[in-house]
Amino acid sequence: TRHRIAVIPGDGIGVEVTAEAIRVVDAVADVEWTSFDWSCQSYLDTGKMMPDDGLEQLRPFDAILLGAVGYPGVPDHISLWGLLIPIRRAFDQYVNVRPVKLLPGVQSPLRDRTAEDLQMIVVRENSEGEYSNVGGRQGLGDYEMALQTAVFTRHGVERVVRYAFELARQQNLPVCSATKSNGIVHTMPFWDEVFQDVAKEYEDVPSEQCLADALAARMVMAPQTLGVVVASNLFGDLLSDLSAAVAGGLGIAPAANLNPQRTAPSMFEAVHGSAPDIAGKGIANPVAQILTAAMMLDHLGETQAAVAIEQAIERALADPGARTPDLGGSATTRGSADAIIAAL
Ligand code: NAI
Ligand code: MG
Repeated sequence: TRHRIAVIPGDGIGVEVTAEAIRVVDAVADVEWTSFDWSCQSYLDTGKMMPDDGLEQLRPFDAILLGAVGYPGVPDHISLWGLLIPIRRAFDQYVNVRPVKLLPGVQSPLRDRTAEDLQMIVVRENSEGEYSNVGGRQGLGDYEMALQTAVFTRHGVERVVRYAFELARQQNLPVCSATKSNGIVHTMPFWDEVFQDVAKEYEDVPSEQCLADALAARMVMAPQTLGVVVASNLFGDLLSDLSAAVAGGLGIAPAANLNPQRTAPSMFEAVHGSAPDIAGKGIANPVAQILTAAMMLDHLGETQAAVAIEQAIERALADPGARTPDLGGSATTRGSADAIIAAL
């Protein structure tokens, strides 16, 4: 079947790596791409990250592939709240899944770790929690203050925890819940309570709760003890960058914003941003976005195509000639993708 995909390349290396991901997907699947030039660049011209009817334009598609948005001179809260967060929320993409895996030829900063040690999937709550717009500022000068209220609902916590347990059961991994109920005395004990309730339905899946700070240390000191890590929006954001780093960096870390009920399109975007420091040089690592596109194909039911891409990446990266500078090589973005296509 032919899949209809909305592409938002965005800014900086988002544009560069998305072009390569499209070439790789075209080699294995039948996809019709429709491109939207919504970005910080277009914000500077139009004053908007996306048109007023942007969400309605996206809704009919089977999925959304997003590069990254962010541009020096445009405050990050504009790109985030003008595009990414409205899409995630309007389409009920309540889980953000970030799997990490140590690929051949990639050096983990934890030098003695093997691929088996570093198999973690961070499941981040993606629609509520600490990233709320409840709050404000009051007062002036020395007496000014800022308040920000975290919002946790039983429905919201339960559904992401249940997703984590389903994934863990399917992948045969343990579940660890990130908490901070020692310091954060209202929302985190609530999170823990819902976690424990859901855990009772999954007695075959080993599960535990861990304070988020200790969990961060454990990702570095004992990653082999972790499998699926389920966390609130903020903790999941931090822990997923850390898990990506221990498995070799942002250049190879994929991610998906999923609507598991499929009532609206899911959105696929690598963990990394637009990387203004290397944008335009043609040296960004395309692997993260290509793995992200493979997650998209898997979500669309194209399991074989997804597996073929993952295997091609592993074969290609075994050759140092396919590695971009972040992996210690000298391949260009295009050269690295060419090697992956050749391996397909
Ligand atoms: P970043 O992920 O863009 O870059 C962090 C560092 O990692 C940089 O040194 C960069 O060169 C390197 N890096 C990232 N991806 C790479 C790749 N594929 N290959 C090689 N090196 C890579 O994060 P940063 O610098 O904090 O943010 C830059 C902009 O991107 C900001 O405007 C930020 O808001 C935005 N951003 C957007 C995201 C999105 O659209 N989902 C996610 C994260 C950041
Ligand atoms: Mg982040």
